[in-house]
Amino acid sequence: MKYKIAVMPGDGIGPEIIEQGRKVLDTVSEIHHFDIDWIHYDNGADKYLETGELITEYTLKEIKKSCKSIYLGALGDPRVKPGILEKGILLKTRFYFDQYVNLRPIKLLEGVECPLKDKTPKDINFDVIRENTEDFYVGIGNRAKIGKSKQELEVIRSLYSVKFGLDIDTQGSDIAYQIGVISKKGSKRVIEYAFDHAKKLKKTKVTAVDKANVLDSVYSFWRETVDEVGKKYPSIQYEFNYVDAITMWFVKNPEWFQVVVAPNMFGDIITDLGAMIQGGLGLAPGGNINPHGISMFEPIHGSAPKYKGQNVANPLATIWAGALMLSELRQQKASDAVINAIQDVLKEGKTKTKDLGGNNSCSQMGDAIVKKLKI
Ligand code: IPM
Ligand code: MN
Repeated sequence: MKYKIAVMPGDGIGPEIIEQGRKVLDTVSEIHHFDIDWIHYDNGADKYLETGELITEYTLKEIKKSCKSIYLGALGDPRVKPGILEKGILLKTRFYFDQYVNLRPIKLLEGVECPLKDKTPKDINFDVIRENTEDFYVGIGNRAKIGKSKQELEVIRSLYSVKFGLDIDTQGSDIAYQIGVISKKGSKRVIEYAFDHAKKLKKTKVTAVDKANVLDSVYSFWRETVDEVGKKYPSIQYEFNYVDAITMWFVKNPEWFQVVVAPNMFGDIITDLGAMIQGGLGLAPGGNINPHGISMFEPIHGSAPKYKGQNVANPLATIWAGALMLSELRQQKASDAVINAIQDVLKEGKTKTKDLGGNNSCSQMGDAIVKKLKI
């Protein structure tokens, strides 16, 4: 079996951590008798600054035609205005491939120091399923100066499209606005994914996140959909948490959670907190998944430009993201082997990068995982 994988190292520490990820995936693929053919894409800050290109339709089409999956390092560079690369490459790719699920495991591994007092690996082990294409991320909004103005805004998705024609009349102050959109179809499919995921993992509870007490148009719609879907899964209990409250419970009682399903923006926020309770951003992987199409795997941390080229970043989040990719490619044994190797190296505690309180380099951490896999 041979898989063509698009690899986009990106900016900052991206290339260093991706190199370790590739090394590990090449090793595990050899052991498990399959091949990965890496197709390199240099999209990122340098390319943008040289050519003005973020990511073209042509590139996205080419990936669609020839690749099974995408392995991404990180995007973001201090020379480029915040949001340009993130929106122009990362979000563009998530939306183009309709990667509507963002799977973010929150799992404290043995040997990792947890900032929460008295919490152990058995207390912190759940998955956040973040909706990944809608909500405030649809990117429509604008500013309006005092007086009258008109605005046409639209969202175009493969599932649906929607246009807003706004007649604005502002008195007293200039304003800015941002429209969040969730669709019935878009919510239903990710909520179903969350319940199916819970069922597959033999979990018994799904927690849905919202802020239906204030942003009620959008999130009461979300809540109703959770109810509709939840009723179809009698073996799985479900409950609702407001987003502010869930941040408190993640810290106080993380053991309550099994599968958490959240709209896009709240999912973004709570998974940075999730990363911290599992030992830090250096250990938190994510998968942008289209269960019927092309998915993209990346660490959830950013490009950390300060550490670029220093070989000090922790590559484990990226390596773990690679394991998520193997699982999506249905190479479950290889995926488990990578996660077990990460677990064993952390438990032994002989190789630790700076963020874990050690002195080992990024490549030494990659080597330690490779060595474990070969035993
Ligand atoms: C993430 C990041 C992105 C997001 C940014 C970089 C656009 O924070 O993957 O969590 O908000 O989704
Ligand atoms: Mn984020």
